[in-house]
Amino acid sequence: MRRLRRSEPLRALVRETTVEPGDLIYPLFICPGAGVRREVPSMPGVFNVSVDEAVREAEEAASLGLGGLLLFGLPEGKDEFGTGAWEEDGIVQNGLRALRESAAAKNLVLIADVCLCEYTSHGHCGVVVKSGDGFDVDNDQTLELLARAALSLAKAGADVVAPSDMMDGHVAAIRRALDEGGHAHTPILSYASKFASAFYGPFREAADSAPQFGDRRSYQMDGANLREAMREIELDLAEGADMILMKPAMPYLDVVREAREEFGVPMGAYQVSGEYSMMQAAFAKGWLDRPRAILESLLGIRRAGADFAVTYFAKEAARLLG
Ligand code: PBG
Repeated sequence: MRRLRRSEPLRALVRETTVEPGDLIYPLFICPGAGVRREVPSMPGVFNVSVDEAVREAEEAASLGLGGLLLFGLPEGKDEFGTGAWEEDGIVQNGLRALRESAAAKNLVLIADVCLCEYTSHGHCGVVVKSGDGFDVDNDQTLELLARAALSLAKAGADVVAPSDMMDGHVAAIRRALDEGGHAHTPILSYASKFASAFYGPFREAADSAPQFGDRRSYQMDGANLREAMREIELDLAEGADMILMKPAMPYLDVVREAREEFGVPMGAYQVSGEYSMMQAAFAKGWLDRPRAILESLLGIRRAGADFAVTYFAKEAARLLG
């Protein structure tokens, strides 16, 4: 076996998997204001950016050849129903209109995350109702709000909408709203298989979206379940999802592989905030070789079968590959 490992040209010739900048999607957290670039304490190198700064980020992303951006918003205010998610002048809607006007947008896919947790005062991904002496996130009331959010994001200029809420029937509700609202051509990238994960911790600081009570285990999946993940994907595809997103990535690469074997649709995996932050922590300690670890983590995602990766390392990885 070692004959083909003797030089870099030989290794390159027999290499089975590649990572290209175009396979990488860069998440952006858009916040109010102008000239704002606020680093997220638990995610070194990741910033909350105002709309003008987001445009600069997009230009950089385009010049590096990235595949696209995944947009999240930090609204001015929050309420019980997450109104900020579907307002015409919501934070991501404003960001999308500005990005659409920039030249960079022609070379990037602008993906808008669809969820309520960044916009609700309680931090849950849907409408909270009383249930016995506890609470529940009401599935069907939430669907209507998600559908509104998706349509408003499409109207503001999103190329793709990406529901990450994990409500049942969300893709069908969003598809119907898009079709009826004149956006039949807007594709849905569904976070079909999203596990309730400790690795989302730093994101909740970045997006200010931590639940104020309880947790997300009544809607996100149990980490133990592979067969259930396949059922989630099957249902989302039947409802009209055009592409699927799997997350987290590293602790769930077997799920990515299984999905690749079972479904012929375009598929991405999300290297989530906790995966990023733990690597950053190790880099800060000098415990891992930074460039090699970054590229190896992304290669693993591609080798597991994902067509593209959402990653906070997107810009740095593209520079390394460049
Ligand atoms: C919104 C959403 C979350 C992430 C993406 N969309 C947070 C959550 O579900 O708590 C996590 C992304 C990351 O950790 O990088 N529902």
